[in-house]
Amino acid sequence: MDTATRPYRSVLYIPGSKDRALEKARSLPCDAIIFDLEDAVAPEAKPQARETLANALKEGGYGKRSRIVRINALTTEWGLEDVRALRDAGADAILLPKVNTPSDVDNLADMLGPDMPIWVMMETPVCVFNAREIAAHAQVTGLVAGTNDLTKDLGCRTRADRLPLMTSLQMIVMAARAARGVVAIDGVYNRFRDGDGLKAECEQGRDLGFDGKTLIHPAQVEVTNTAFAPTQSEIDLAGRQIAAFEESKASGQGVAVVDGQIVENLHVVAAQRILAKAAAIAEMAAE
Ligand code: COA
Ligand code: MG
Repeated sequence: MDTATRPYRSVLYIPGSKDRALEKARSLPCDAIIFDLEDAVAPEAKPQARETLANALKEGGYGKRSRIVRINALTTEWGLEDVRALRDAGADAILLPKVNTPSDVDNLADMLGPDMPIWVMMETPVCVFNAREIAAHAQVTGLVAGTNDLTKDLGCRTRADRLPLMTSLQMIVMAARAARGVVAIDGVYNRFRDGDGLKAECEQGRDLGFDGKTLIHPAQVEVTNTAFAPTQSEIDLAGRQIAAFEESKASGQGVAVVDGQIVENLHVVAAQRILAKAAAIAEMAAE
């Protein structure tokens, strides 16, 4: 799950029970899909959803999109059966909700075996406190902010600036980065018909360092893809920074100046990351 080789800008939730949405996703320009068996599926619909989802995954047609299956927590009556039904269905990762500690992850890892990557819903206060150890778990490759559950558990207000969630969001990004190579995905924007509000929240999540955002509706994909992609001027600047730095190095200097700003080795690393992301996005689009 390397963000240098594949993008995770738009991560769309699809209820595992909805045939129409499972079909539609095969042609949506999202980078990843979370096939949901948890909160998007009513209790009485869960057994059928497992079957519908396993069939859709076996049928395939999702192209380069990452396929992530969100099961129910292992402490619920559905969790174990979800694992049995979906672990060999061809998903790229299993997403575990309501995690509190690394041992919750261990329980799932024991059932999946060592080869299936695990993503974790970061959606309880205890989980956020344990973020570093959870992200460092050998099998964890992605963290997803569960902002609706966090808001509920924190008892905080829902605000456009997300100030009450800021500590949690930043701890999630910090944990992912401290662990290296772990993907960090922001929570959903509930008003799915409000494109301007979504854009602002995407840009906030991007500025905080998230790789992408979880979405609930196809109408949210395009805005999100744009917000989390490097802009053309960022790509151009990155190219010029790398070239200028190489030139300086060749003439025995450790730094360069581009557009009035210093360019050191660390800026080159950041510039290379921008170019790698742009290349990964281009490859995704070339499908
Ligand atoms: N993924 C893929 N396709 C979706 C979709 C999704 N998440 N949500 C809607 N669609 C499809 C619909 O099937 C419909 O397709 P069609 O026109 O080809 O038949 C089209 O997009 C338009 O849907 P629309 O009528 O605008 O949405 P809705 O009012 O039926 O449903 C929601 C709105 C929010 C209930 C629905 O988008 C949804 O279930 N989202 C996912 C919720 C979820 O997974 N929550 C868990 C995590 S928070
Ligand atoms: Mg949740």
